[in-house]
This record gives sequence, structure tokens and C-alpha cells, in this order.
Amino acid sequence: MKPLEYFNKNRNQMLEELKEFLRIPSVSAQPEHKEDMHRCAEWLCNHCKEIGLDTKIHQTKGHPIVVARTPHNASKLTYMVYGHYDVQPVEPLEGWTKTKNPFEPVVADGNIYGRGTADDKGQLFTHLKAVECILKTGSELPFNLIFLMEGEEEIGSENLGQFLESHAEELRCEAVVISDTGMPSISCPAVTYALRGVLALEVILTGPDRDLHSGIHGGAVHNPAHVLCSMLASLHDPQGRVTVPGFYNEVENLTNYEREQFQKLPFSDESYKESLSLKELFGEEGYTTIERRSSRPTLEVNGLTSGYQGTGSKTIIPSVASAKITCRLVPNQKAEVIMERVSKHLKNICPASASIEIMHGHGGDPYIVDPTSSKVQAALRALQRAFKAEPTIMREGGSIPITIEFKRKLNADALLIGFSLPDDNAHSPNEKFSLECFDKGVATSVYLWEELSS
Ligand code: BES
Ligand code: ZN
Repeated sequence: MKPLEYFNKNRNQMLEELKEFLRIPSVSAQPEHKEDMHRCAEWLCNHCKEIGLDTKIHQTKGHPIVVARTPHNASKLTYMVYGHYDVQPVEPLEGWTKTKNPFEPVVADGNIYGRGTADDKGQLFTHLKAVECILKTGSELPFNLIFLMEGEEEIGSENLGQFLESHAEELRCEAVVISDTGMPSISCPAVTYALRGVLALEVILTGPDRDLHSGIHGGAVHNPAHVLCSMLASLHDPQGRVTVPGFYNEVENLTNYEREQFQKLPFSDESYKESLSLKELFGEEGYTTIERRSSRPTLEVNGLTSGYQGTGSKTIIPSVASAKITCRLVPNQKAEVIMERVSKHLKNICPASASIEIMHGHGGDPYIVDPTSSKVQAALRALQRAFKAEPTIMREGGSIPITIEFKRKLNADALLIGFSLPDDNAHSPNEKFSLECFDKGVATSVYLWEELSS
């Protein structure tokens, strides 16, 4: 039997297994899910063993790492598949309509709905099922494969870098295949050749040493919520550029070739706007929406807190105001350097009426690879065969912080072959993964190993 015949015969069973995987609420960011993270790693480990992989769980200071290998053959080269079993928090729960419980996956209108379906359990599963199809049919697998699966991608992969370093010898590989990105449409599959980097920080402003009566003190005390708002508002100019001195210093201009390629992608501002219920788009002047979303650096407020948040009103001047901020970085920018510049600027613009504390969070550098390499060409051929459509190359705005570390610590390039569609709602309520993308993802993976060996 051929691998894909085996897949067709067992596809329903495989979807049931994916549902089991999705039912484990592996939210890496929330301490109350620590046990679930371990349960999820155990489940993955057992599942890989059933597939026929030699599998081990490695404990870390954070969530466990699962490493699974095909039976070793010393005469073959080795490739790695990387994926993450952790997912983003599911709040706000009211938003989930396709399935009331984000961890009770539902199949409807050609999709599977639930947290982690697209990002990244469903995508990771395509490669696990492909290798299962190859092994169970006794088909030829031209390479040794290492599956490296972590539980901290959504919180910055803080322990995986160290793991790569301490296990570099046994993790040596030709390249790392990652399916944790997207494609413009089902008729336009893509290889992603650049990802943005990311850095996270939190600004905490303190005014008076306690919440004050706003009638007794209002007018005489600088309200830290006001201070924070005007500081944050000043971080962009009316042209949508970030005002932090030096923010753009290292940014490389897009080549004309890249800008022309972007023009060819199937994308319209009109339908993008509509899909987000927006009346107008906004962004850095002089760049198209695709360029703004994939190839320009940004600074965003992700969370904002101050004062009374309960029912009704409370007449106070809050003591504290804080904001969570992340920046997306593009090739040639360094997370550490930009973190320094942003922190320094925030301290500079903070008036003496408030005291400022800045907490540095995770950071990851951007990633870019040569889109004309023979490995990318092999991936494009695999996509063409699976999707029966002309594939493209593109840059993406999201971040997979460990990608650059594969290069630095293992000297391995990443091959980013994503199967997620633009309306998959990653990180949002009603996350989904198209079953057609799942099927074609499995086929892509089966073909990929052939194409890489030819
Ligand atoms: N799958 C995404 C990364 C992604 C999304 C790449 C869209 C390309 C397009 C990944 O799981 C993710 O969300 N990463 C986080 C990393 C952060 C928390 C350090 C991100 O980009 O916000
Ligand atoms: Zn994600």
C-alpha cells in the first residue's frame, strides 16, 4: 500500500486522534494549566511511540520538550520537524460560537474548530500522520527524522534555546521543517522565507503610594493613568511611524523584487477590512498592507490596566497604571538592542510626577532565509503536487522565536511550510483548521521527503 492510500483508509481514525490531542488544554501562559502541559507531553510521547518513533520527554525549568525519532539508519541524512503543543489562552469565552468549549473540538463545514487546531497541534499532526503512513506501509523514508516538539512557543521558547545547545550533537540535521505559518489561500500554498522577531516588555507607572479620593485630591495629583496614556500615544506619529529614537536604524529596505512579488499575492485591502469589520485600515505611510504586516517593524500595546475595573463607578485617582507592549522586528534588527532603545525612551519621556519601572519579557530575533535555495524549491514542488496549485514564496509577520536559534546553534535553516488559512482565527475565538488543508498537509509532508531527496 502507498502512504497516501493508508492515509485515506485511516483518515477518520486520525481525526479522532487529533481531537484527543486538542482536548488537552495545554495553555502554556497560565500556571493553572501546568499539569495539563505535562499531560499533553505524555499524550504526545505515547502517541509517537504508537506511530513507531523512539520517543523521550525532557523536563525543563518550564514545560517539557518531546523528542521523537524514526528508527535510526546511519547511512541516511537527518531532517528535523519542529512544532509546538502549547496553545494560547482561550479568553474571551463568549466569542466561541462554533464550539462552546474551545477544548471540545467540533467538525463543521469542512473545518475542525477548537483552540490549537491551526496553531499548532493540527499543523504538527500533518507531519506525524505522514510519517505514520510511511512507516506503517513499510515505504521508503529517505531520511532519519527527528520530531522536536515544545510546550513554550507561545511564551517565547525560553528553555528550548538552552536545550538546543546542550543537545546539539544529537540534534544535528540538514534543515528544520516547520508548519506553524499560513498560506494566502487554498489555491495559493506558500513557503515562508522570513518571520518577524518579537520583544515583550511591561511598563509600570506609579503615582501616589495608594489609590486616592478623586474629589479630595483630584486636580492636584498627576493621574498615572493619564501619564501612561499620553506616553503611549506619543509612541507613534500621525504617519504611523514609531517615534522611539533609533527604532528604524538597522531596518533594511525591501528590494524591488520582493515588492513586486508581494503585489502578485492574492490579497485585497477591501476584503481584509471587511473580514475585520473595520471601516478603515491604518499603518505606516508609504507601505502596502502586506508590507506593513510582514516586513515592517511595529510597536503595539497589548494590554492596558489601571484603576477600578469592577461594576459601577469608583471615584479614585489610581496609584498605578501599566501597559504590556510588544514590538515586531524585521531582519537586521536585534531584540536586545531595540529593547534597550524602547526602555530608554520610555524613561526619558516619563515626567517626574510618576515613577517608572520597566520589566523586560521574552525576546526573539527575526529570521530570513534565501528563497531560491534548493530546499525551498523542493518544498515548493511538494506543495504543487499536494495542492495541485502554483505555490508562492512570502514573508510573514508572526514570530517563531526559536527559528533563528536553529541557525545559530545547529547551523540548520528552517523550511517554513504553513497550512493555515487567513481566516483560521489563530489566537482568537473560533480558531479552526480546514480539513482540506489537513489532508493536503499530510500529502505535502509525504512528498516533501521524496522531493528533498531527489
Ligand atoms: N504560529 C505562530 C507564528 C506565526 C503566526 C507565524 C502567523 C506566521 C504567521 C506562533 O505560534 C505564534 O503565535 N508565535 C508568537 C510568538 C510570541 C509569543 C513570542 C507570536 O508571533 O505572537
Ligand atoms: Zn501562536
